[in-house]
Amino acid sequence: MSKLVVRGRKPLKGEVAVGGSKNSSVAIVPAALLGDSVCTLDNLPRIDDVRVFAQILRDLGAQVQMDGTTMTVSPNGFASYVAPFDLVRKLRASYYLMGVLLAKFGRAEVGLPGGCDIGPRPIDQHLKGFRALGAETAVEGGVVKLYASAGLRGAPIYLDIPSVGATINIILAASRAEGTTVIENAAKEPHVVDLANFLNAMGGRVQGAGTDVIRVRGVKKLAGASHSVIPDDMEAATYMMGAAATGGDVLIKNVITKHLEPVTAKLREAGATIDENGDYVRVVGPARPRAVNVKTLPYPGFPTDAQQPLVAVLSLADGVSVVQESVYENRLGYVSELVKMGARIKVEGKAAIVEGVSRLMGAPVTATDLRAGASLVIAGLSAYGTTEVYGLDIIRRGYELIDRKLSELGADVAVAGE
Ligand code: EPZ
Repeated sequence: MSKLVVRGRKPLKGEVAVGGSKNSSVAIVPAALLGDSVCTLDNLPRIDDVRVFAQILRDLGAQVQMDGTTMTVSPNGFASYVAPFDLVRKLRASYYLMGVLLAKFGRAEVGLPGGCDIGPRPIDQHLKGFRALGAETAVEGGVVKLYASAGLRGAPIYLDIPSVGATINIILAASRAEGTTVIENAAKEPHVVDLANFLNAMGGRVQGAGTDVIRVRGVKKLAGASHSVIPDDMEAATYMMGAAATGGDVLIKNVITKHLEPVTAKLREAGATIDENGDYVRVVGPARPRAVNVKTLPYPGFPTDAQQPLVAVLSLADGVSVVQESVYENRLGYVSELVKMGARIKVEGKAAIVEGVSRLMGAPVTATDLRAGASLVIAGLSAYGTTEVYGLDIIRRGYELIDRKLSELGADVAVAGE
């Protein structure tokens, strides 16, 4: 298992450029299949999830070229409604193929997305939406089978929870349905808006993305389009936390400051000095963070994907912090790894009680999901001694060139065990 070896106590200093959003890319890359001509996607992050999706599209018959952060997708040969099982199981977001294949062929067969260490990751809201649009849904042998015998027809859909995945998947399916779909209690995350903008550039008619009511007027055809993916707010948040945890001074470029507001507000409360200006934020970490309380919520609340990196910062705070995880069932399992480094954290239900300590000690620890990995790396950057973070391949799924970017910020990190 590859690992990142981190020698701590070196404050992060300098500039880092954020890549394209992982969570936006894994929706927009499959959506490119809906066009009748070539799509050019830019500012894609250089991460494994994007590379795996490129291969899935090729297996489905599309021609896909990748060059750094740019991908061209030519859907001409795209003719199969059965997603390649061996690749689909590699990434959770492969569930967007359900909406895309359903929109294109009126049927889809996609392997169930794997659960992971932050909970069972059900898709009941996705299936509820597809049924409302006229598709029969069944799960047989770990494969979701969808079939709209009379084609897809627009419908009103009320989501029980503002699920990001369900919102995006329903928009994808509804984009080519007959008539209008209205999604209520929709997710408002930035990558929902990014996807809507891409579909509209293709000739789609998606209105209201970013609010909790999204209206999708189905269209007969979608043409290829060019699109530049929004910056990854969670990658930016992670480097902000790194600066806060190490008393560093980091300028994070290519961001959309609006998307970072909840993280900026919380880190200011914890004592960081943050300068926002256009497409960059500059974070100067305090000598020692202050304890803060936080509850994760759907956007625009404090993002659940920033909860784990924040807890690494609060592990060093001067005081006791209460961190409530309200989005996922069990997204606190990773704290046991921080405890190995000397953190004092108790989990009570869906809350972590973090009693800040004055120092963390390096130790061998294991990343169970990519944001837990980011949390452990941040802890290692501030710890005394050496931390070996196993599971680097998991971290690399969502953080492009993380070892290079950290080294350029003065961190003493090295990849090992490849
Ligand atoms: C997306 O996951 C992101 N992944 C997650 O980021 C992110 O944590 C999450 O949104 C919330 O912001 C991608 O975009 C690929 P949800 P998703 O549907 O779509 C429950 C990362 O680290 N739920 O909003 O799966 C679900 O179990 C990843 O980048 C249902 O009950 O999130 C969870 O408790 C981790 N039924 C809650 O809703 C459903 O049908 C939020 O899930 C769907 C979801």
